Amino acid sequence: MKDIQILAIESSCDETAAAVVRNGREVLSNTIYSQIDLHTLYGGVVPEIASRKHIEKINYVIEEALRSADRRLEDMDAIAVTYGPGLVGALLVGVAEAKAISFATGKPLVGVHHIEGHIAANYIEHQELEPPFLCLVVSGGHTHLVVVRDYSTFEIIGRTQDDAAGEAFDKVARAVGLGYPGGPKVDKCAVFGRPDAVAFPRGHVGGSFYDFSFSGLKSAVLNYLNSCRMKQGLDGNVIYSSKTDRPDFDPFEKVDPESGVTVADVVASFQAAVVDVLVGHTIHAAHEYGYTKVAMAGGVASNSALRKAMSDACSKDGLELFYPSPVLCTDNAAMIGCAAYYEYMAGVRHGYDLNAVPGLKLGERI
Ligand code: KG4
Ligand code: ZN
Repeated sequence: MKDIQILAIESSCDETAAAVVRNGREVLSNTIYSQIDLHTLYGGVVPEIASRKHIEKINYVIEEALRSADRRLEDMDAIAVTYGPGLVGALLVGVAEAKAISFATGKPLVGVHHIEGHIAANYIEHQELEPPFLCLVVSGGHTHLVVVRDYSTFEIIGRTQDDAAGEAFDKVARAVGLGYPGGPKVDKCAVFGRPDAVAFPRGHVGGSFYDFSFSGLKSAVLNYLNSCRMKQGLDGNVIYSSKTDRPDFDPFEKVDPESGVTVADVVASFQAAVVDVLVGHTIHAAHEYGYTKVAMAGGVASNSALRKAMSDACSKDGLELFYPSPVLCTDNAAMIGCAAYYEYMAGVRHGYDLNAVPGLKLGERI
């Protein structure tokens, strides 16, 4: 069978990325320009700055992806691009670029759902993985428990009612002065703390049995920090004031001199609460729905405590666990090229009226 080579573009948030993927699962190049350093100055992603940076970098990133794959545009069978969900201005840059390349070369255009991309990242390093399976999608904007019926059919059986898991990591990190992006920093800092130091809630509010809620947990952490400060006669309301990394950040600093609880204890306890809920829901759903294959996707899937707890729980219950390498968990274009291959093979082609859809639903085709 003829090889299918796809140039994929991703610009939904703060990574400008392009990749060349052969036959869906072979990554020939994966170029990522991360804007993180820029947004760190502001304590989070600034949409307007993200769009401008995408415009500045996108041509360079695409050229680099083709160069390192040793391919030319003429070698491509399709041009794929993330068209939602994400920041509208950021998405538009990738969509406009992909449409222009598709128009200029006459190559078909394939729009891809960002979360389908995250899920597809699992196929790249696990050649044996095929649907159906259960996938926990945990990113900065999404927390979904998804039944992946086939390559393009998805059923969301649980979702967050408020904050996404990654968002909770980012907010807690900021509250303790770890800076942005919080997830990886909490992950590293938690190693120095005791996960059972503070009993934070493993909350559940309304919705489906498999729904998640992290805003109560986030508030519990902030309230705990504030009450510790007030006990020491300090202003209890300085939360969110620290936008960038505190240069003097010390994981062993006591937040509560009375009990000896440290910053690292607080973040480790917070992380344990998030991990408990994510693992609990996923394992329960795998049994209930009868899936023996479980996958994880999205930035938070690179969290070391989550990987360890999920793999312990899966091996205890005889379930097979899959997750991508950290570089394929966070935003990248290789995962978009992988998802695009299955769309392309299913006959999906978009016209030049393809638009950015910031609130695109999983499984929705526009
Ligand atoms: O998937 P992603 O790159 O972007 C979205 O589609 O949102 O996910 C980014 C999120 C951020 O909230 C970041 O803090 C979180 O993933 N993250 C982590 C880790 N690495 C990234 N959260 C916990 N532990 C990590 N090691
Ligand atoms: Zn993402």
